Amino acid sequence: MAQLSLAKDKITVVLLEGIAATAVETLRGFGYSNIRTQTKSLDEAALADMLADAHIVGIRSRTQLTETVLRSARKLFCVGCFCIGTDQVDLATARRLGIPVFNAPYSNTRSVAELMIAEIIMLFRGVQPKSFAVHRGEWPKSAANANEIRGKILGIVGYGHIGSQLSVLAEAMGMQVRYFDIQKKLAIGNAVPCPSLEAVLAVSDVVSLHVPDTPQTRNLIRAEQLAVMKPGSFLLNASRGKVVDIDALAGALRSGHLLGAALDVFPKEPKSRDDLFESSLRGMEQVILTPHIGGSTEEAQANIGHEVAEKLAGYSDIGSTVGAVNFPQVALPVQEQGIRFLHIHENRPGLLSEIDRTLSAGGLNLSAQYLQTEGDLGYVVTDVTATHEDDATRRKLRSLREDLRTIGGTIRARFLF
Ligand code: NAI
Repeated sequence: MAQLSLAKDKITVVLLEGIAATAVETLRGFGYSNIRTQTKSLDEAALADMLADAHIVGIRSRTQLTETVLRSARKLFCVGCFCIGTDQVDLATARRLGIPVFNAPYSNTRSVAELMIAEIIMLFRGVQPKSFAVHRGEWPKSAANANEIRGKILGIVGYGHIGSQLSVLAEAMGMQVRYFDIQKKLAIGNAVPCPSLEAVLAVSDVVSLHVPDTPQTRNLIRAEQLAVMKPGSFLLNASRGKVVDIDALAGALRSGHLLGAALDVFPKEPKSRDDLFESSLRGMEQVILTPHIGGSTEEAQANIGHEVAEKLAGYSDIGSTVGAVNFPQVALPVQEQGIRFLHIHENRPGLLSEIDRTLSAGGLNLSAQYLQTEGDLGYVVTDVTATHEDDATRRKLRSLREDLRTIGGTIRARFLF
């Protein structure tokens, strides 16, 4: 495995907000021992203080990595968001400073898919209204409108990570799957693609939405689309709140066109536990309402801890930026021998040849080079055949790194051996 020009025990890792223990275990597994953990998020001043000598920071959704914090953290070279979203980080500043930001977009796929299966069964059996009635002391024992899910048609809109995982679980429960995706997606198992959103809505006994939040998916499901759905069918949304027009859905439920729904995400969600949740769906017993917990399980947290820690170690150890949300993506092999120079720069013509000239002038023979540019940013990784055993070579490498840093447009340069 590659070593760092800075010994691993000198690399300070700060993990905030009670990140799962799997993150520490994973980083330790990669040889990082200088790990400081904190259960809380910190305000700007305390955060800047905490990050003064940090090389790597891990946060969840409450820590705000603002421009001020990022600029004051002078040693910081990568950020891990141990969650899905990255809005809490000033990504543009991080990019300008040559700091890749990683997250874990798919670690909770299974958790969401499982909840969908549970809710589909709850809806088909009318469990929630019956449970509320029993809580009130009533006894509505009846088989009316209570159905098995076996043989029923599940329509999935958005056949990505969650949609396709749900497809597998639903088929295992005996359901028939139809799906619609704007991209051509390989059907898994016996699932059948539909040519349009309306086509999938029209044939399904229950529809589950798993699309991202894009201009095209805002209010994707409104009165017209609800009208196309089968009478007596159900709708689930655990994707993004703005995908469904909530008032139109409330109307379709009140009229009895839809028998029930399950929503985990909403156009306006409370910011904290103390804020009140407002929605025209409140009080409708046939609607399962959950507080955006589709992906919130201990297993998902453990997966996130592992996945993001692995990406951070991958960048720190070998320079890989695969999975970074604000950076050119460079996938790299582990270099068994030799030295690897990492150079992050403004995307200017001629810069690559200057890097190569500088390294060649230092007497180094280039064995491999990986370049990726994205907009105004370039990232080039250069492997050279050289040894680093003696102090003289190490001094030479450091001096070459300084030469690389003087090339106009350079944002960062470091080397690994
Ligand atoms: P993904 O990116 O793997 O899949 C999304 C799919 O939707 C893609 O195949 C894409 O082509 C498709 N798509 C995009 N626009 C579409 C359109 N207009 N019509 C039909 N298909 C369209 O995403 P993943 O991981 O499956 O997540 C899906 C959604 O679930 C995301 O919005 C994500 O934010 C949300 N999510 C919610 C969680 C929760 O706690 N409730 C947890 C995890 C994810």
